Amino acid sequence: LYLPTPTRRAFLASAASFAAGALFAGHGIRSAYAASVREFRLKAAPANVRLVPEPYDKTPVWSYGAEVPGPEIRVRQGDRLRVMVENGLDEETTVHWHGVRTPNAMDGVPHLTQAPIAPGETFTYEFDAVDAGTFWYHPHQNSTVQVERGLYGPLIVEEADPVRVDRELTWILDDWRLTRAAAISDDFGNRHDLMHNGRVGNTVTINGRVPERIAVRAGERIRLRLINAANARIFGLDFADLEPIVIALDGQPVTPHAPADGLVTLGPAMRMDLIIDMSGRPGSHATVTDRFYQRLEYRLVDLIYDETALRDSAPDWPLELPANPLAEPDLGTALRHEVTFNGGMMGQMVMMEMGGSMGDAPAGGMMANMMHGEGIWFVNGKAATGHVMDPLLTVAHGRTCVLAMTNATAWHHPIHLHGHSFRVLSRNGLPTAHREWQDTVLMAPREKVEIAFVSDNPGDWMFHCHILEHQAAGMMGVIRVS
Ligand code: C2O
Ligand code: CU
Repeated sequence: LYLPTPTRRAFLASAASFAAGALFAGHGIRSAYAASVREFRLKAAPANVRLVPEPYDKTPVWSYGAEVPGPEIRVRQGDRLRVMVENGLDEETTVHWHGVRTPNAMDGVPHLTQAPIAPGETFTYEFDAVDAGTFWYHPHQNSTVQVERGLYGPLIVEEADPVRVDRELTWILDDWRLTRAAAISDDFGNRHDLMHNGRVGNTVTINGRVPERIAVRAGERIRLRLINAANARIFGLDFADLEPIVIALDGQPVTPHAPADGLVTLGPAMRMDLIIDMSGRPGSHATVTDRFYQRLEYRLVDLIYDETALRDSAPDWPLELPANPLAEPDLGTALRHEVTFNGGMMGQMVMMEMGGSMGDAPAGGMMANMMHGEGIWFVNGKAATGHVMDPLLTVAHGRTCVLAMTNATAWHHPIHLHGHSFRVLSRNGLPTAHREWQDTVLMAPREKVEIAFVSDNPGDWMFHCHILEHQAAGMMGVIRVS
């Protein structure tokens, strides 16, 4: 699985790094990659960055390379990445390559796939970029705090044959809970956040800045890579008169289509690649609004058109991206597993409604847990709050697994599986329009979602809600592929 042949183009493009690659060949790198090893360094450490414009102060953050987001890691599909991560924090950390199908030992989950990186230490991650697409990296250690304080960055894997556009932009969306002095509020892990929406902030940034305006040109075609790096905020972007076309979800190509309801909806950790033709008049502007939470709409950013047009009408270049090498689920032989999510505020009512279908943990035990604050969210009746976790389920290598998931809570949950991408088969019993590949699927309150994947990547893989406060309060488990 991890040895795709580099394409001719990727091979030529990396000719410059050939000498370096030859040098690594003696250190256990597979020779197929000798020509395309790409090295990066990340140092996690405290820094001060300008999130909000003056006269506010800079904000003390934790970040990679003293900037938020951390440096863009950009490689070509088929390249091997080697990333040296240095821990300049006062606490342990790790890096998880969200959405990237790495070998298990490179997945960055402390106490499950590696020992945490101690302060002052360096850990080297090494894996092949098997899939092209929009990914991101973030710690998997104390992530409610570490991600919220600014530790995250984009990981872009370019296709050998990308779609043609005039310009490519990446927007990493985040929200922050800032004090009046523009410092990060340190009320981490408060019970209200844990039991409700998670830590939704009061300040939204694009690429680490409160956005004001972005210059565009009439007629230009933009590929916009959106990444939601927020702990908890779900975005629902309205591009006004523009008509964005979704070409990839979570890095994986999808049949190009207009977003449902005209809203570009992105739960935490999700990504979306959009093609946007700038159809406005020169000198005009378009406002992007976030409408996800009712009555909490706000203007995210203004797109300001230059006085001169690039072209008069949209180009007719094709929109389809080449598929990634994902194994196709075989539903005929699939193993089917039920997964039920419970808990949170109003969970008690849900428990009573659900009656006996709670799995093997008695509802009384869950209530007692919730009261004592040990676990608030449950996967098949268990709240996982410790380090070492027995697998929620074990599946044989190379099988098709269908997870029939029920969100029995009153809240949204972006459910993420490590090490695999899955097809989203159905929602509330209705087949999805595009059988989209995702690694994080947003489930609405009470929604049922079926996903399918081929368990072709051996190891212990986290399966959790990516509202990080929900994860910390129990909403996670391990899926073992053995
Ligand atoms: Cu974005 Cu378990 O991770
Ligand atoms: Cu959740």
